[in-house]
Amino acid sequence: MTIQQLINDRVVAALAAAGAPDAPAVVQPASKPEFGDYQANGVMGAAKALKMNPRALAEQVIAKLDLAGIADKVEIAGPGFINIHLDPTFLATRVEAALAADALGIAKVAPQKVMVEYSSVNLAKEMHIGHLRGGIIGDALVRVNSFIGHDVVRQNHVGDWGTQFGMLVAHMVESRAAGEADLELKDLDVFYKHSKKRFDDDPAFADLARDYVVRLQSGDAEVLELWHQFVALSLTHCNAIYQKLGLLLNDGDVRGESAYNDDLPVLVEELRQQGLLTEDQGAQVVFLEEFKNKEGEPAAFIVQKQGGGYLYATTDLGAIRFRVNKLGLDRCLYVVDSRQSLHFQQLFTTARKAGWLPQSADFQHIGHGTIMGPDGKPLKTRSGENIKLVELLDEAIERAFQLVSSKNAELPEAERRQIAEAVGIGALKYADLSKSRNTDYIFDWDSMLSFEGNTAPYLQYAYTRVQSVFRKAEDFDLAAKVVIAEPAEKQLAVALAQFEDVVYAVADSSQPHHLCSYLYNVATLFSRFYEACPILKSEGAVRASRLQLAAATAKTLQTGLGLLGIAVLETM
Ligand code: ARG
Repeated sequence: MTIQQLINDRVVAALAAAGAPDAPAVVQPASKPEFGDYQANGVMGAAKALKMNPRALAEQVIAKLDLAGIADKVEIAGPGFINIHLDPTFLATRVEAALAADALGIAKVAPQKVMVEYSSVNLAKEMHIGHLRGGIIGDALVRVNSFIGHDVVRQNHVGDWGTQFGMLVAHMVESRAAGEADLELKDLDVFYKHSKKRFDDDPAFADLARDYVVRLQSGDAEVLELWHQFVALSLTHCNAIYQKLGLLLNDGDVRGESAYNDDLPVLVEELRQQGLLTEDQGAQVVFLEEFKNKEGEPAAFIVQKQGGGYLYATTDLGAIRFRVNKLGLDRCLYVVDSRQSLHFQQLFTTARKAGWLPQSADFQHIGHGTIMGPDGKPLKTRSGENIKLVELLDEAIERAFQLVSSKNAELPEAERRQIAEAVGIGALKYADLSKSRNTDYIFDWDSMLSFEGNTAPYLQYAYTRVQSVFRKAEDFDLAAKVVIAEPAEKQLAVALAQFEDVVYAVADSSQPHHLCSYLYNVATLFSRFYEACPILKSEGAVRASRLQLAAATAKTLQTGLGLLGIAVLETM
């Protein structure tokens, strides 16, 4: 059980014993050291409900509160907060247990089947900077949820259908005939532009493209085969990026929009039978009172175009039915740009009304903001185009290589290249994950690659420093007793013991930045401890205990960064 849960249960019991049964304890890690290590805020709410003076209730709660062996000091602060100071012996035992266990002994949940849907690129074009955040955040959520014991399904809901695929397939056939396909398909954006130009300039080509769309949609085997080839090719571009970025996504996680084709007419018919459809200018629309457009009228959720075509929304309804009926998900996290928020609200509401999404299933849009340039507008190239993700990743690695070379010129180049990959990709990921996902942020190479502050290089470097202590230590006992005596030891131990709470908080909120702030705090407290408490120069049990704190720090940094998809290094 996490410390937070442990204390929470005890405070709830004390509240009940003091005459406030079922009152929530609201226990959280304290925001400042003077508030203790954990703080319970539940007394105020309970006192209000009982029409009691909060301080008087707090006194009764403290009198009943049994934290023997957990806390060595409990005090009332302000209007009725309870500040809880953990007992050093309790902390020492927690650190020892974490070191002795696999994966720091993090408690496992009752497993749920959780899908994380992320990346979900449109396959007609090359991946660009707009795909970075969702990829990174989704991957961290996959890792965190799996780590605490959930059964996690990754899903890449790629855009692999729609009229432009007729045009792309036609162009593929043509450029192949001219022997240029391999060259052309190296860059999907160029390929797309060329096909679009052909489409606009040459009526015969446009007819061919339209013919392909019709044949594709009617399931013509020959065109389907060509379309498959294009999709596979486009996915190899994606896979190269996933690999470079260290995402867990692979071909097995792909289930694109096209997978739901056959269900679309069926589900639209069901919506009609349920009386949820309205015809609006020839289109089939679900109007929901809950959502208003700019004019203040119910916003339209279009599921079938005039002329019969289906849309993004229809496919997403098909995906929900599949995820609920076939996969039996308990929870589904859609990691997608926040600008699609209305779409997802309409989607979930429609699916609930249609009875396809049971109340018990927790489907959420995990929105994220945009990466901005210094001018406060979405970051683009100088000529106003989307920045290609391959180029951005290569630049991150190259910049990290310059940085590592300037610090450590004597390392062999091959080693510097390896370090640069972990540092460059780590910096890019961490810069993103350390900010609240809901807001936009301004992209800045210098700050993300800095060795100071809340950055990946700082944390990776902190890890190498701890490791260097072990290289110098020569002998140490991995089962030595931990003894917490100095304030700097206690502060570090408290932070280490809170790892489990933080991981659970990230899983609940889908907000990885809590883990980043936490790891930054651990690294900072380790520095303070390292300065205040000599490790290698001390002796006997004290030395052994401090080495254990160092070992727990290294393990926590490594595990925590691992949950963010960031590698640690032995030297850098
Ligand atoms: N392919 C879409 C786009 O690029 C994103 C898909 C998000 N996922 C979903 N289930 N709608 O905008």
